[in-house]
Amino acid sequence: MKLEELDTPAAWVDLDVMERNLLRMGSYCKKHGLALRPHIKTHKVPELAYRQIDSGAVGIASAKVTEAEVMASAGVDNILIAYPVWGKHKWRRLAELVRHATVAIATDSVEHTHALAEGMGKAAKQISLLVEVDVGSGRTGLPIDENLPQRLTCIAETGIPVKGLMLYPGYIKQIEEGTIERLSGKISSVIAEYEKAGLTLSVVSGGSTPTAFYSHLLPGVTEIRPGTYIFNDCNCVRIGAAAWEDCALKVRCRIVSTSVQGGAIIDGGSKTFSDAASIHGPGFGRLVQCPEAPCEKMNEEHGYLKLAGSGFSPSAGDLVDVIPNHACTTVNMHHLLYGVRNGRVEEIWPVAAQGKIH
Ligand SMILES: Cc1ncc(COP(=O)(O)O)c(C=O)c1O
Repeated sequence: MKLEELDTPAAWVDLDVMERNLLRMGSYCKKHGLALRPHIKTHKVPELAYRQIDSGAVGIASAKVTEAEVMASAGVDNILIAYPVWGKHKWRRLAELVRHATVAIATDSVEHTHALAEGMGKAAKQISLLVEVDVGSGRTGLPIDENLPQRLTCIAETGIPVKGLMLYPGYIKQIEEGTIERLSGKISSVIAEYEKAGLTLSVVSGGSTPTAFYSHLLPGVTEIRPGTYIFNDCNCVRIGAAAWEDCALKVRCRIVSTSVQGGAIIDGGSKTFSDAASIHGPGFGRLVQCPEAPCEKMNEEHGYLKLAGSGFSPSAGDLVDVIPNHACTTVNMHHLLYGVRNGRVEEIWPVAAQGKIH
């Protein structure tokens, strides 16, 4: 089937670009002796997790227990749930999951670790922990202070093996002079506090896409968890983590109306792209056929292209492609992803972990 024969809107992946992205990250990690643990929240597709493993990944990361279940049921092993898993429903599911896969969980409090140990019962012995420390995201993670060694000791006392540390530098949206040095300083002090607790440090799990290629400069980091790198998106380009030609995911849409002067409407709105805002500047994605025509607004079913001054004058019925602001939330709106090479659909992947919010 040809790309132009797909019903619209359709989320499609340029296979040549995706394969280049996978190769680049795999080679970088190999060169620097870093373990690659891609975050699968970007694609949510077991077949793509296997592509990542083929390109050197040691396992995967997920945010949700249910995402981990989808991957494990497809045979993907060595899963880090990089999120503080709370609640009896999830702990029960985890207890079942560890019968089929090797699972590590991120924790960021003594209370959480105790609750997890109790909630999982005997199965808690099957998991291991990475303790998340806040290196600046202000989101989750233990603070770096003099209480850290004591907190780590209390976490270890639950009897669940603590393998090391987890850091999320994803809050860094622009690498400027001093950014990596400041982050390095924080990581060094976390490691120093960890060592005071007398625990074995075998893993320091760091980096997401924005800082991934700087990971070899960060002291002690043993693995990275980039997710978006497989596809990249407008936000990656706008923060300098990728170029437009590295964006593998596009959404093919049809122009459904040009009746209102100065604009055109595509059949993709927030139900197709999510309403993820752009990190820098306005706009809801980049129109491949004419980047000068901004996608300036989205309703649920309508995307508004501003044509005035762009030189672009499509007709109703024409096909266009839009690179989304945020690949992960866009993929989550779709049942299928189409893998395309030279204009032909080579692969169709069900987005098996779409909508897995638990
Ligand atoms: C804990 C954690 N690790 C890794 C990632 C991957 O980030 P990115 O998609 O920017 O590579 C995320 C993304 O939200 C995350 O929350």
